[in-house]
Amino acid sequence: MEITVSRKAHFNAAHRLHVAGWSEEKNKAFFGHCNNPNFHGHNYDLTVTVTGQLDEETGYLIDTKELKDLIKREVEDRFDHKNLNLDTEEFKQLNPTAENIAIVIWRLLRPHIDQSIKLKITLYETERNFVEYTGN
Ligand code: NI
Repeated sequence: MEITVSRKAHFNAAHRLHVAGWSEEKNKAFFGHCNNPNFHGHNYDLTVTVTGQLDEETGYLIDTKELKDLIKREVEDRFDHKNLNLDTEEFKQLNPTAENIAIVIWRLLRPHIDQSIKLKITLYETERNFVEYTGN
């Protein structure tokens, strides 16, 4: 029996979208307000989704307390109330788009979840804009 379990989390962070090799004009034209040199913030909503075979003895796929603690340690403690460009190692060189943030979160969580379990990251940057990453 394949089953899917999700856990929601939240963090606030600031960023600036910018390609280092481009001119100021090209960056401004491409990224618009998101290229503002003084940064801007988002309230990121994260859903971590795991899919795998139900353990029929326990009735669990995964211990949601462990999943909660993992997300807190690897994502919230690392990114909450941070300037992603300036304060985090992950985005010192990597443009902190919603796409890249979702990929980074997937890579941070993946080693800590049983390999038999599939992992999907859904990251909302605004109420209407969200990205999904499954590692493919
Ligand atoms: Ni933004």
